[in-house]
Amino acid sequence: MSTNITWHPSLTRKERNTYRKQRGLTIWFTGLSASGKSTIATALEQHLLHLGLAAYRLDGDNVRFGLNKDLGFDEKSRNENIRRIAEVAKLFADSSTIAITSFISPYKADRETARSLHAAPGADPSDEPLPFIEVYVDIPLEVAEARDPKGLYKKAREGKIPEFTGISAPYEAPENPEILIKSHETSVEDAVRTITEYLQKKGYLG
Ligand code: PPS
Repeated sequence: MSTNITWHPSLTRKERNTYRKQRGLTIWFTGLSASGKSTIATALEQHLLHLGLAAYRLDGDNVRFGLNKDLGFDEKSRNENIRRIAEVAKLFADSSTIAITSFISPYKADRETARSLHAAPGADPSDEPLPFIEVYVDIPLEVAEARDPKGLYKKAREGKIPEFTGISAPYEAPENPEILIKSHETSVEDAVRTITEYLQKKGYLG
């Protein structure tokens, strides 16, 4: 924890929203490797941009090339990976952008921390919390393993990748996600439609 630091007063969400009509929020994808979360998240980002909304996707593999390149896949590193991403997603959401994250995020406690971070008050105590929508991309392990687009499951079974999610490291499935997508039974287009309809029903798209 840093010391000798002081929080600098910033614009409230209410003030910011008088200039930007779009509401910021975070759509948090979670699921096994090869579940399809990045594919659906990318299609969703494209769709929201097409509607004229500001959206930006943070991706597991990609973020590990830069911001989180110092992190591995042991439990502590995954905790830190998700903590940083949650903070970054919150900043995007606070700037009235739709933040879309696609990370395995295998630990329930980490996802709950990400959620509570968004629920925390903004600069002004009367600011509304930032919506946090958990999307569980559910797929049986056997199906993900049969897909194996990067050959990682094969390597994990051969013992060449330690602590591989679903094989030698846990995946704690969400119990009450806002949205459940069974990706082996749903097309990418239908998944995007389901999520967009949810956002519209909640009044998040203006
Ligand atoms: S986590 O658990 O949320 O911190 O993981 P994430 O940042 O999403 O990174 C997952 C991608 O990293 C690759 N990879 C692994 N995944 C799981 N376990 C191990 N040990 C591992 N090693 C490398 C893999 O390509 C994951 O990408 P996706 O898109 O999920 O398949």
